[in-house]
Amino acid sequence: MPVIPLISQEEIQQKVQELGQKITQDYQGKELDVVGVLKGCFLFMADLIRHIQLPLTCDFIRVSSYGDQKVSSGVVRFDFDVTQPITNKHVLLVEDIIDTGLTINYLLQNFQTRNPASLKVCSLLHKPENTRKKVQIDYLGFTIPNKFVIGYGLDFAGKYRNLPYVGILEEDAEP
Ligand code: PRP
Repeated sequence: MPVIPLISQEEIQQKVQELGQKITQDYQGKELDVVGVLKGCFLFMADLIRHIQLPLTCDFIRVSSYGDQKVSSGVVRFDFDVTQPITNKHVLLVEDIIDTGLTINYLLQNFQTRNPASLKVCSLLHKPENTRKKVQIDYLGFTIPNKFVIGYGLDFAGKYRNLPYVGILEEDAEP
């Protein structure tokens, strides 16, 4: 498989534990509504919430902008929404990666109009070199170079999400 390992399973698990502990401290005495951005978030969020020692609910939204391509189309498509209102809730949006920032910027604007009690962002990965919309990432796992990454929930044309680590897909790889 033409994948160059970038972040090991052990490094991910260590970081996820740290993020969970930090979130637990920051939200003491509060209830959290953890909202994952599908599909890429599903492994990270499953691991993260097991390190958050707070009463919490989980919900999911589905947006996409890449299709089967390696480069963002620039158009965020809203496929489905949360199942419960977020009004007056402490909402934590969970992303696998913030790349151009277009997706999370769109979601923050959209969610803010629904008047949550608070709204923060947790992302496993950030690719700052590719930023088109700058957003504050409240909880960040790793800053990565401007390479196409896959694994631990991240895909190329739907595949590779099941890798337990994050790797760089070689330039000429086919889906
Ligand atoms: C990925 C990722 C983020 C978004 C980040 O989703 O999960 O939601 O792209 O990119 P951006 O910062 O450039 O907007 P994708 O559209 O690939 O859908 P998926 O999560 O279902 O793979």
